[in-house]
Amino acid sequence: DGELLTWEGEMSEVLSPICINDGGHISQKCIGHTPLLTSQEALHALDAAVKAYDLGMGEWPTLSVGSRIHHVEKFLSAMRAKRQEVVNLLMWEIGKPLKDAEKEFDRTCVYIEDTINQLKELDRNSARFDTEEGIVAQIRRVPLGVALCMGPFNYPLNETFTTLIPALIMGNTVVFKPAKYGVLLIKPLLEAFRDSFPKGVINIIYGRGRDTVGAMMETGKLDVFAFIGTNKGANDLKKLHPKPHRLRSILGLDAKNPAIVLPDADLEVAIQECITGSLSFNGQRCTALKILFVHDSIADVFIEKYLQALQKLQMGMPWEAGVSLTPLPEPGKTEYLNGLVQDAQQHGAKVMNEGGGLFNQTYFHPAVLYPVNAAMRVYREEQFGPVVPIVPFSKVQEAIDYVRDSNYGQQLSIFSQDAEAVAHLIDSFANQVGRINLNAQCQRGPDTYPFNGRKDSAEGTLSVGDALRAFSIRIMVASKMN
Ligand code: G3H
Repeated sequence: DGELLTWEGEMSEVLSPICINDGGHISQKCIGHTPLLTSQEALHALDAAVKAYDLGMGEWPTLSVGSRIHHVEKFLSAMRAKRQEVVNLLMWEIGKPLKDAEKEFDRTCVYIEDTINQLKELDRNSARFDTEEGIVAQIRRVPLGVALCMGPFNYPLNETFTTLIPALIMGNTVVFKPAKYGVLLIKPLLEAFRDSFPKGVINIIYGRGRDTVGAMMETGKLDVFAFIGTNKGANDLKKLHPKPHRLRSILGLDAKNPAIVLPDADLEVAIQECITGSLSFNGQRCTALKILFVHDSIADVFIEKYLQALQKLQMGMPWEAGVSLTPLPEPGKTEYLNGLVQDAQQHGAKVMNEGGGLFNQTYFHPAVLYPVNAAMRVYREEQFGPVVPIVPFSKVQEAIDYVRDSNYGQQLSIFSQDAEAVAHLIDSFANQVGRINLNAQCQRGPDTYPFNGRKDSAEGTLSVGDALRAFSIRIMVASKMN
Protein backbone atom coordinates (compact mmCIF):
# COMPACT_ATOMS: atom_id res chain seq x y z
CA ASP A 1 0.00 0.00 0.00
CA GLY A 2 2.74 2.45 -0.94
CA GLU A 3 4.96 1.88 2.09
CA LEU A 4 8.09 -0.15 2.70
CA LEU A 5 7.34 -2.04 5.88
CA THR A 6 9.88 -3.28 8.38
CA TRP A 7 9.41 -6.88 9.42
CA GLU A 8 10.37 -8.14 12.81
CA GLY A 9 8.82 -11.61 12.60
CA GLU A 10 10.19 -14.90 11.29
CA MET A 11 12.82 -14.74 8.54
CA SER A 12 14.07 -17.34 6.09
CA GLU A 13 17.71 -17.82 5.12
CA VAL A 14 18.55 -17.45 1.43
CA LEU A 15 21.20 -20.01 0.51
CA SER A 16 23.24 -19.51 -2.63
CA PRO A 17 23.87 -22.56 -4.82
CA ILE A 18 27.49 -21.44 -4.65
CA CYS A 19 29.29 -23.29 -1.89
CA ILE A 20 32.05 -22.07 0.42
CA ASN A 21 34.81 -24.09 1.98
CA ASP A 22 35.13 -23.27 5.65
CA GLY A 23 38.15 -25.19 6.94
CA GLY A 24 37.25 -28.30 4.96
CA HIS A 25 33.53 -27.99 5.69
CA ILE A 26 31.72 -27.26 2.43
CA SER A 27 28.35 -25.60 2.63
CA GLN A 28 26.05 -23.32 0.67
CA LYS A 29 26.71 -19.68 1.40
CA CYS A 30 23.96 -17.75 3.16
CA ILE A 31 23.53 -14.53 1.18
CA GLY A 32 20.58 -12.92 2.88
CA HIS A 33 17.23 -13.32 4.52
CA THR A 34 13.63 -12.78 3.48
CA PRO A 35 10.60 -12.15 5.67
CA LEU A 36 8.13 -14.97 6.20
CA LEU A 37 4.93 -12.97 6.30
CA THR A 38 1.77 -14.43 7.73
CA SER A 39 -1.68 -14.47 6.20
CA GLN A 40 -2.40 -11.21 8.02
CA GLU A 41 0.17 -9.20 6.05
CA ALA A 42 -0.77 -10.95 2.79
CA LEU A 43 -4.41 -9.99 3.31
CA HIS A 44 -3.36 -6.43 4.10
CA ALA A 45 -1.55 -6.33 0.73
CA LEU A 46 -4.59 -7.78 -1.02
CA ASP A 47 -6.91 -5.24 0.60
CA ALA A 48 -4.61 -2.44 -0.55
CA ALA A 49 -4.85 -3.75 -4.14
CA VAL A 50 -8.64 -4.10 -3.89
CA LYS A 51 -8.95 -0.57 -2.53
CA ALA A 52 -6.72 0.89 -5.25
CA TYR A 53 -8.82 -0.87 -7.88
CA ASP A 54 -12.11 0.40 -6.45
CA LEU A 55 -11.13 4.06 -6.27
CA GLY A 56 -13.24 6.41 -8.37
CA MET A 57 -12.80 7.91 -11.82
CA GLY A 58 -9.35 9.05 -12.82
CA GLU A 59 -7.54 6.60 -10.53
CA TRP A 60 -5.36 3.74 -11.75
CA PRO A 61 -7.91 1.52 -13.59
CA THR A 62 -9.47 4.48 -15.39
CA LEU A 63 -6.35 6.57 -15.77
CA SER A 64 -5.52 7.47 -19.36
CA VAL A 65 -3.24 5.04 -21.16
CA GLY A 66 -0.71 7.85 -21.58
CA SER A 67 -0.56 8.43 -17.81
CA ARG A 68 -0.16 4.74 -17.00
CA ILE A 69 2.65 4.54 -19.55
CA HIS A 70 4.29 7.49 -17.83
CA HIS A 71 4.33 5.60 -14.50
CA VAL A 72 5.81 2.49 -16.11
CA GLU A 73 8.48 4.58 -17.87
CA LYS A 74 9.42 6.12 -14.54
CA PHE A 75 9.79 2.64 -13.08
CA LEU A 76 11.86 1.48 -16.05
CA SER A 77 14.37 4.26 -15.73
CA ALA A 78 14.75 3.63 -11.96
CA MET A 79 15.13 -0.09 -12.67
CA ARG A 80 17.89 0.51 -15.21
CA ALA A 81 19.99 2.12 -12.49
CA LYS A 82 19.92 -1.19 -10.56
CA ARG A 83 21.29 -3.34 -13.38
CA GLN A 84 24.57 -4.31 -11.73
CA GLU A 85 22.97 -5.17 -8.42
CA VAL A 86 20.26 -7.33 -9.99
CA VAL A 87 22.72 -9.08 -12.32
CA ASN A 88 24.97 -9.95 -9.35
CA LEU A 89 22.04 -11.39 -7.47
CA LEU A 90 21.00 -13.46 -10.49
CA MET A 91 24.46 -15.04 -10.36
CA TRP A 92 24.54 -15.58 -6.60
CA GLU A 93 20.94 -16.61 -6.06
CA ILE A 94 20.28 -18.93 -8.98
CA GLY A 95 23.75 -19.51 -10.44
CA LYS A 96 22.88 -17.86 -13.76
CA PRO A 97 25.99 -17.31 -15.91
CA LEU A 98 26.96 -13.62 -16.12
CA LYS A 99 26.15 -13.27 -19.82
CA ASP A 100 22.73 -14.87 -19.37
CA ALA A 101 22.05 -12.75 -16.30
CA GLU A 102 22.86 -9.57 -18.23
CA LYS A 103 20.69 -10.81 -21.07
CA GLU A 104 17.81 -11.48 -18.68
CA PHE A 105 18.01 -7.94 -17.32
CA ASP A 106 18.34 -6.24 -20.72
CA ARG A 107 15.65 -8.41 -22.28
CA THR A 108 13.29 -7.36 -19.51
CA CYS A 109 13.94 -3.67 -20.22
CA VAL A 110 13.25 -4.24 -23.92
CA TYR A 111 10.12 -6.20 -23.02
CA ILE A 112 8.84 -3.20 -21.07
CA GLU A 113 9.66 -0.79 -23.92
CA ASP A 114 7.97 -3.06 -26.48
CA THR A 115 4.94 -3.39 -24.22
CA ILE A 116 4.61 0.38 -24.06
CA ASN A 117 4.79 0.63 -27.86
CA GLN A 118 2.27 -2.15 -28.37
CA LEU A 119 -0.10 -0.55 -25.91
CA LYS A 120 0.00 2.72 -27.83
CA GLU A 121 -0.89 0.75 -30.95
CA LEU A 122 -3.66 -1.20 -29.21
CA ASP A 123 -5.07 1.96 -27.72
CA ARG A 124 -5.21 3.66 -31.12
CA ASN A 125 -7.26 0.77 -32.47
CA SER A 126 -9.49 -0.11 -29.56
CA ALA A 127 -11.22 2.99 -28.20
CA ARG A 128 -13.65 3.49 -31.06
CA PHE A 129 -17.26 3.80 -32.09
CA ASP A 130 -18.91 1.19 -34.26
CA THR A 131 -22.26 1.01 -35.93
CA GLU A 132 -23.79 -2.35 -36.91
CA GLU A 133 -27.40 -3.32 -37.45
CA GLY A 134 -28.81 -0.15 -35.92
CA ILE A 135 -26.69 -0.32 -32.76
CA VAL A 136 -24.06 2.30 -32.07
CA ALA A 137 -21.41 1.07 -29.68
CA GLN A 138 -18.39 2.51 -28.01
CA ILE A 139 -15.94 -0.33 -27.47
CA ARG A 140 -13.42 0.01 -24.64
CA ARG A 141 -10.62 -2.16 -23.40
CA VAL A 142 -10.69 -2.30 -19.59
CA PRO A 143 -8.62 -4.08 -16.92
CA LEU A 144 -9.82 -7.25 -15.20
CA GLY A 145 -9.34 -6.31 -11.54
CA VAL A 146 -6.86 -7.49 -8.94
CA ALA A 147 -4.09 -9.73 -10.22
CA LEU A 148 -1.75 -12.02 -8.32
CA CYS A 149 1.57 -12.42 -10.18
CA MET A 150 4.06 -15.18 -9.37
CA GLY A 151 7.09 -16.08 -11.46
CA PRO A 152 9.60 -18.96 -11.67
CA PHE A 153 13.08 -19.33 -10.17
CA ASN A 154 14.87 -19.76 -13.52
CA TYR A 155 13.80 -16.35 -14.88
CA PRO A 156 12.89 -14.61 -11.63
CA LEU A 157 13.07 -11.17 -13.17
CA ASN A 158 12.21 -11.61 -16.82
CA GLU A 159 9.36 -14.11 -16.78
CA THR A 160 7.80 -12.55 -13.71
CA PHE A 161 7.79 -9.19 -15.44
CA THR A 162 6.11 -10.65 -18.53
CA THR A 163 2.97 -10.87 -16.39
CA LEU A 164 3.55 -8.05 -13.90
CA ILE A 165 4.14 -5.26 -16.41
CA PRO A 166 1.21 -6.05 -18.75
CA ALA A 167 -1.06 -6.47 -15.70
CA LEU A 168 -0.09 -3.06 -14.34
CA ILE A 169 -0.04 -1.14 -17.58
CA MET A 170 -3.52 -2.36 -18.49
CA GLY A 171 -4.88 -0.84 -15.27
CA ASN A 172 -5.09 -3.88 -13.01
CA THR A 173 -3.79 -3.60 -9.47
CA VAL A 174 -1.34 -6.26 -8.39
CA VAL A 175 -0.09 -8.38 -5.54
CA PHE A 176 3.29 -9.80 -6.50
CA LYS A 177 5.11 -12.60 -4.72
CA PRO A 178 8.69 -13.08 -5.92
CA ALA A 179 9.96 -16.56 -6.81
CA LYS A 180 11.24 -18.76 -3.98
CA TYR A 181 14.81 -18.75 -5.34
CA GLY A 182 15.66 -15.48 -7.01
CA VAL A 183 13.88 -13.59 -4.28
CA LEU A 184 16.55 -11.13 -3.08
CA LEU A 185 16.93 -9.58 -6.50
CA ILE A 186 13.56 -7.85 -6.19
CA LYS A 187 14.79 -5.95 -3.12
CA PRO A 188 16.83 -3.37 -5.10
CA LEU A 189 13.65 -2.58 -7.03
CA LEU A 190 11.31 -2.00 -4.09
CA GLU A 191 11.88 1.73 -3.91
CA ALA A 192 11.47 2.07 -7.65
CA PHE A 193 8.07 0.37 -7.39
CA ARG A 194 7.04 2.54 -4.45
CA ASP A 195 8.12 5.79 -6.09
CA SER A 196 6.73 5.03 -9.56
CA PHE A 197 3.17 3.86 -8.87
CA PRO A 198 0.24 5.25 -6.88
CA LYS A 199 -0.47 3.75 -3.45
CA GLY A 200 -1.87 0.22 -3.52
CA VAL A 201 -1.34 -0.35 -7.25
CA ILE A 202 1.58 -2.75 -6.69
CA ASN A 203 1.99 -4.68 -3.45
CA ILE A 204 4.90 -7.03 -2.88
CA ILE A 205 4.82 -9.82 -0.34
CA TYR A 206 7.28 -12.48 0.81
CA GLY A 207 6.66 -15.75 2.57
CA ARG A 208 5.48 -19.31 2.25
CA GLY A 209 2.89 -19.84 -0.46
CA ARG A 210 0.57 -21.78 1.80
CA ASP A 211 0.47 -18.97 4.39
CA THR A 212 0.23 -16.03 2.06
CA VAL A 213 -1.17 -17.01 -1.34
CA GLY A 214 -3.56 -19.59 0.08
CA ALA A 215 -5.11 -16.98 2.37
CA MET A 216 -5.53 -14.50 -0.49
CA MET A 217 -7.12 -17.12 -2.77
CA GLU A 218 -9.64 -18.12 -0.12
CA THR A 219 -11.06 -14.58 0.05
CA GLY A 220 -12.30 -14.84 -3.55
CA LYS A 221 -11.12 -11.23 -4.09
CA LEU A 222 -8.54 -12.09 -6.74
CA ASP A 223 -9.64 -11.69 -10.36
CA VAL A 224 -6.48 -12.84 -12.14
CA PHE A 225 -3.98 -15.54 -11.29
CA ALA A 226 -0.79 -15.13 -13.32
CA PHE A 227 1.54 -17.97 -12.44
CA ILE A 228 4.63 -19.47 -14.05
CA GLY A 229 5.68 -22.70 -12.42
CA THR A 230 4.40 -26.25 -12.06
CA ASN A 231 0.92 -27.64 -12.73
CA LYS A 232 0.80 -28.91 -9.19
CA GLY A 233 1.58 -25.48 -7.75
CA ALA A 234 -1.03 -23.79 -9.96
CA ASN A 235 -3.75 -26.35 -9.27
CA ASP A 236 -3.16 -26.44 -5.51
CA LEU A 237 -3.61 -22.67 -5.33
CA LYS A 238 -6.41 -22.28 -7.87
CA LYS A 239 -8.68 -24.74 -6.14
CA LEU A 240 -8.67 -22.57 -2.99
CA HIS A 241 -10.58 -19.81 -4.81
CA PRO A 242 -14.26 -20.11 -3.85
CA LYS A 243 -15.41 -19.26 -7.38
CA PRO A 244 -12.67 -20.53 -9.73
CA HIS A 245 -14.76 -19.65 -12.81
CA ARG A 246 -14.33 -15.98 -11.86
CA LEU A 247 -10.57 -16.26 -11.77
CA ARG A 248 -8.81 -15.59 -15.08
CA SER A 249 -5.74 -17.83 -15.14
CA ILE A 250 -2.70 -16.93 -17.19
CA LEU A 251 -0.32 -19.82 -16.75
CA GLY A 252 3.07 -21.04 -17.98
CA LEU A 253 3.52 -24.60 -16.72
CA ASP A 254 5.42 -27.88 -17.21
CA ALA A 255 6.83 -28.98 -20.56
CA LYS A 256 8.67 -31.97 -21.98
CA ASN A 257 9.76 -30.60 -25.33
CA PRO A 258 11.15 -33.24 -27.70
CA ALA A 259 13.58 -32.91 -30.58
CA ILE A 260 12.96 -35.27 -33.48
CA VAL A 261 16.06 -35.90 -35.57
CA LEU A 262 15.34 -37.55 -38.93
CA PRO A 263 17.99 -39.52 -40.88
CA ASP A 264 18.58 -36.74 -43.43
CA ALA A 265 19.12 -33.99 -40.84
CA ASP A 266 22.10 -31.65 -41.14
CA LEU A 267 23.97 -33.12 -38.20
CA GLU A 268 26.17 -30.09 -37.52
CA VAL A 269 23.07 -27.93 -37.12
CA ALA A 270 21.20 -30.58 -35.13
CA ILE A 271 24.07 -31.07 -32.67
CA GLN A 272 24.66 -27.39 -32.12
CA GLU A 273 20.96 -26.72 -31.52
CA CYS A 274 20.41 -29.82 -29.37
CA ILE A 275 23.42 -29.08 -27.16
CA THR A 276 22.35 -25.54 -26.30
CA GLY A 277 18.68 -26.53 -26.42
CA SER A 278 19.13 -29.26 -23.83
CA LEU A 279 21.88 -27.84 -21.63
CA SER A 280 22.02 -24.04 -21.65
CA PHE A 281 21.58 -22.83 -18.07
CA ASN A 282 21.88 -26.50 -17.05
CA GLY A 283 18.65 -27.40 -18.86
CA GLN A 284 16.71 -25.23 -16.39
CA ARG A 285 14.49 -23.58 -19.00
CA CYS A 286 10.86 -24.46 -19.54
CA THR A 287 11.68 -24.38 -23.27
CA ALA A 288 14.70 -26.70 -22.96
CA LEU A 289 14.81 -29.79 -25.16
CA LYS A 290 14.03 -32.45 -22.57
CA ILE A 291 14.12 -35.60 -24.71
CA LEU A 292 15.88 -36.30 -28.02
CA PHE A 293 14.33 -38.75 -30.49
CA VAL A 294 17.05 -39.75 -32.94
CA HIS A 295 16.56 -42.07 -35.92
CA ASP A 296 18.35 -45.33 -35.16
CA SER A 297 20.32 -45.22 -38.44
CA ILE A 298 22.18 -42.11 -37.22
CA ALA A 299 22.03 -42.60 -33.45
CA ASP A 300 25.69 -43.68 -33.08
CA VAL A 301 27.13 -40.78 -35.01
CA PHE A 302 24.70 -38.34 -33.39
CA ILE A 303 25.77 -39.45 -29.90
CA GLU A 304 29.47 -39.33 -30.79
CA LYS A 305 29.16 -35.75 -32.04
CA TYR A 306 26.86 -34.73 -29.17
CA LEU A 307 29.45 -35.96 -26.65
CA GLN A 308 32.23 -34.07 -28.45
CA ALA A 309 30.19 -30.88 -28.27
CA LEU A 310 29.37 -31.57 -24.63
CA GLN A 311 33.07 -31.70 -23.76
CA LYS A 312 33.39 -28.10 -24.90
CA LEU A 313 30.77 -26.87 -22.42
CA GLN A 314 32.48 -25.32 -19.43
CA MET A 315 31.42 -25.95 -15.88
CA GLY A 316 32.23 -23.34 -13.29
CA MET A 317 31.18 -20.30 -11.33
CA PRO A 318 28.59 -18.02 -12.98
CA TRP A 319 31.03 -15.11 -13.30
CA GLU A 320 33.69 -17.16 -15.14
CA ALA A 321 33.99 -16.32 -18.83
CA GLY A 322 32.44 -18.83 -21.22
CA VAL A 323 30.81 -20.94 -18.50
CA SER A 324 27.43 -22.51 -19.22
CA LEU A 325 27.09 -25.24 -16.55
CA THR A 326 26.78 -23.83 -13.05
CA PRO A 327 25.57 -24.87 -9.56
CA LEU A 328 21.86 -25.69 -9.26
CA PRO A 329 19.72 -23.56 -6.92
CA GLU A 330 16.91 -25.97 -6.04
CA PRO A 331 17.53 -27.86 -2.79
CA GLY A 332 17.73 -31.63 -3.28
CA LYS A 333 17.96 -31.24 -7.07
CA THR A 334 21.22 -33.14 -7.53
CA GLU A 335 19.80 -36.13 -5.61
CA TYR A 336 16.62 -36.01 -7.69
CA LEU A 337 18.58 -36.03 -10.95
CA ASN A 338 20.77 -38.84 -9.66
CA GLY A 339 17.60 -40.83 -8.96
CA LEU A 340 16.44 -40.32 -12.56
CA VAL A 341 19.81 -41.55 -13.87
CA GLN A 342 19.81 -44.61 -11.61
CA ASP A 343 16.26 -45.50 -12.61
CA ALA A 344 17.19 -45.28 -16.31
CA GLN A 345 20.28 -47.44 -15.71
CA GLN A 346 18.20 -50.06 -13.91
CA HIS A 347 15.95 -50.21 -16.98
CA GLY A 348 18.82 -50.68 -19.44
CA ALA A 349 20.13 -47.21 -20.35
CA LYS A 350 23.80 -46.30 -20.14
CA VAL A 351 25.41 -43.04 -19.14
CA MET A 352 27.28 -42.37 -22.39
CA ASN A 353 29.71 -39.69 -21.18
CA GLU A 354 32.53 -40.23 -18.73
CA GLY A 355 31.75 -38.63 -15.36
CA GLY A 356 28.16 -37.98 -16.39
CA GLY A 357 25.74 -37.92 -13.49
CA LEU A 358 28.38 -37.42 -10.81
CA PHE A 359 27.45 -34.73 -8.36
CA ASN A 360 28.93 -32.78 -5.53
CA GLN A 361 26.78 -30.54 -3.35
CA THR A 362 25.03 -28.34 -5.90
CA TYR A 363 27.05 -29.28 -9.02
CA PHE A 364 25.71 -31.98 -11.34
CA HIS A 365 27.76 -33.21 -14.29
CA PRO A 366 25.40 -33.61 -17.26
CA ALA A 367 24.39 -37.21 -17.91
CA VAL A 368 23.60 -38.37 -21.46
CA LEU A 369 21.37 -41.43 -21.26
CA TYR A 370 20.97 -43.96 -24.08
CA PRO A 371 18.94 -45.92 -25.15
CA VAL A 372 15.97 -44.50 -23.28
CA ASN A 373 12.55 -46.12 -23.44
CA ALA A 374 9.05 -45.74 -22.02
CA ALA A 375 9.80 -47.84 -18.92
CA MET A 376 12.08 -45.14 -17.54
CA ARG A 377 10.93 -42.18 -15.44
CA VAL A 378 13.02 -39.76 -17.49
CA TYR A 379 10.94 -40.64 -20.57
CA ARG A 380 7.98 -38.64 -19.21
CA GLU A 381 9.18 -36.70 -16.16
CA GLU A 382 10.32 -33.13 -16.70
CA GLN A 383 13.89 -33.26 -15.38
CA PHE A 384 14.48 -29.48 -15.50
CA GLY A 385 18.19 -30.12 -15.20
CA PRO A 386 21.28 -31.49 -16.99
CA VAL A 387 20.08 -35.00 -17.81
CA VAL A 388 19.71 -35.71 -21.54
CA PRO A 389 17.63 -38.76 -22.54
CA ILE A 390 18.14 -40.02 -26.10
CA VAL A 391 15.51 -42.33 -27.61
CA PRO A 392 16.30 -44.25 -30.82
CA PHE A 393 13.37 -44.75 -33.19
CA SER A 394 12.92 -46.62 -36.45
CA LYS A 395 9.51 -45.28 -37.55
CA VAL A 396 8.71 -41.59 -37.14
CA GLN A 397 5.27 -42.63 -35.91
CA GLU A 398 6.94 -43.52 -32.58
CA ALA A 399 7.89 -39.87 -32.08
CA ILE A 400 4.45 -38.71 -33.23
CA ASP A 401 2.80 -41.03 -30.72
CA TYR A 402 5.06 -39.69 -27.96
CA VAL A 403 3.90 -36.14 -28.60
CA ARG A 404 0.25 -37.08 -28.93
CA ASP A 405 0.28 -39.16 -25.73
CA SER A 406 2.04 -36.47 -23.72
CA ASN A 407 0.20 -34.40 -21.11
CA TYR A 408 2.29 -31.44 -22.21
CA GLY A 409 2.31 -29.45 -25.41
CA GLN A 410 4.60 -26.44 -25.24
CA GLN A 411 6.99 -26.79 -28.20
CA LEU A 412 9.03 -29.28 -30.20
CA SER A 413 11.89 -29.27 -32.70
CA ILE A 414 12.20 -31.15 -35.99
CA PHE A 415 15.58 -31.66 -37.64
CA SER A 416 15.33 -32.64 -41.31
CA GLN A 417 15.89 -31.26 -44.79
CA ASP A 418 13.11 -33.27 -46.37
CA ALA A 419 10.30 -30.77 -47.00
CA GLU A 420 7.66 -33.43 -47.47
CA ALA A 421 8.52 -35.28 -44.24
CA VAL A 422 8.58 -31.98 -42.35
CA ALA A 423 5.22 -30.93 -43.79
CA HIS A 424 3.71 -34.23 -42.66
CA LEU A 425 5.07 -33.72 -39.13
CA ILE A 426 3.83 -30.14 -38.95
CA ASP A 427 0.33 -31.38 -39.80
CA SER A 428 0.59 -34.09 -37.16
CA PHE A 429 1.63 -31.62 -34.46
CA ALA A 430 -0.36 -28.49 -35.28
CA ASN A 431 -3.02 -29.39 -32.71
CA GLN A 432 -0.51 -30.56 -30.10
CA VAL A 433 1.94 -27.73 -29.31
CA GLY A 434 2.23 -23.96 -29.33
CA ARG A 435 5.35 -23.78 -31.49
CA ILE A 436 7.11 -26.07 -33.95
CA ASN A 437 10.79 -25.25 -34.53
CA LEU A 438 12.42 -26.36 -37.76
CA ASN A 439 16.15 -27.17 -37.59
CA ALA A 440 16.30 -25.05 -34.45
CA GLN A 441 16.06 -25.56 -30.70
CA CYS A 442 12.92 -24.62 -28.76
CA GLN A 443 12.88 -21.13 -27.28
CA ARG A 444 10.55 -18.40 -26.09
CA GLY A 445 11.75 -15.40 -28.08
CA PRO A 446 11.45 -13.17 -29.95
CA ASP A 447 9.17 -11.84 -27.23
CA THR A 448 6.76 -10.24 -29.69
CA TYR A 449 5.89 -13.71 -31.04
CA PRO A 450 3.21 -15.75 -29.25
CA PHE A 451 4.47 -17.75 -26.30
CA ASN A 452 2.04 -20.35 -25.01
CA GLY A 453 1.38 -24.08 -25.03
CA ARG A 454 -1.34 -26.71 -25.31
CA LYS A 455 -2.73 -29.30 -22.90
CA ASP A 456 -1.19 -28.99 -19.41
CA SER A 457 1.63 -26.67 -20.51
CA ALA A 458 -0.08 -23.30 -20.46
CA GLU A 459 -3.23 -21.24 -20.30
CA GLY A 460 -3.32 -17.98 -22.23
CA THR A 461 -0.61 -16.47 -24.39
CA LEU A 462 2.29 -14.54 -22.91
CA SER A 463 4.15 -12.30 -25.26
CA VAL A 464 4.30 -8.57 -25.70
CA GLY A 465 1.01 -7.88 -27.49
CA ASP A 466 -0.92 -10.98 -26.40
CA ALA A 467 -0.27 -10.34 -22.71
CA LEU A 468 -1.93 -6.93 -22.97
CA ARG A 469 -5.05 -8.64 -24.25
CA ALA A 470 -4.81 -11.40 -21.64
CA PHE A 471 -4.89 -8.87 -18.80
CA SER A 472 -7.88 -6.93 -20.14
CA ILE A 473 -11.31 -7.37 -21.66
CA ARG A 474 -13.19 -5.46 -24.34
CA ILE A 475 -16.53 -4.16 -23.17
CA MET A 476 -19.00 -1.89 -24.91
CA VAL A 477 -21.52 0.78 -24.24
CA ALA A 478 -24.30 0.34 -26.78
CA SER A 479 -27.41 2.22 -27.74
CA LYS A 480 -30.02 1.88 -30.49
CA MET A 481 -29.89 4.46 -33.25
CA ASN A 482 -33.07 6.43 -33.66
O1 G3H B 1 11.82 -21.16 -18.64
C1 G3H B 1 11.06 -20.80 -19.51
C2 G3H B 1 11.42 -19.62 -20.31
O2 G3H B 1 10.26 -19.05 -20.82
C3 G3H B 1 12.39 -19.95 -21.39
O3 G3H B 1 12.72 -18.82 -22.11
O4 G3H B 1 13.53 -19.90 -24.21
O5 G3H B 1 14.06 -17.53 -23.72
O6 G3H B 1 15.13 -19.37 -22.40
P1 G3H B 1 13.93 -18.92 -23.18
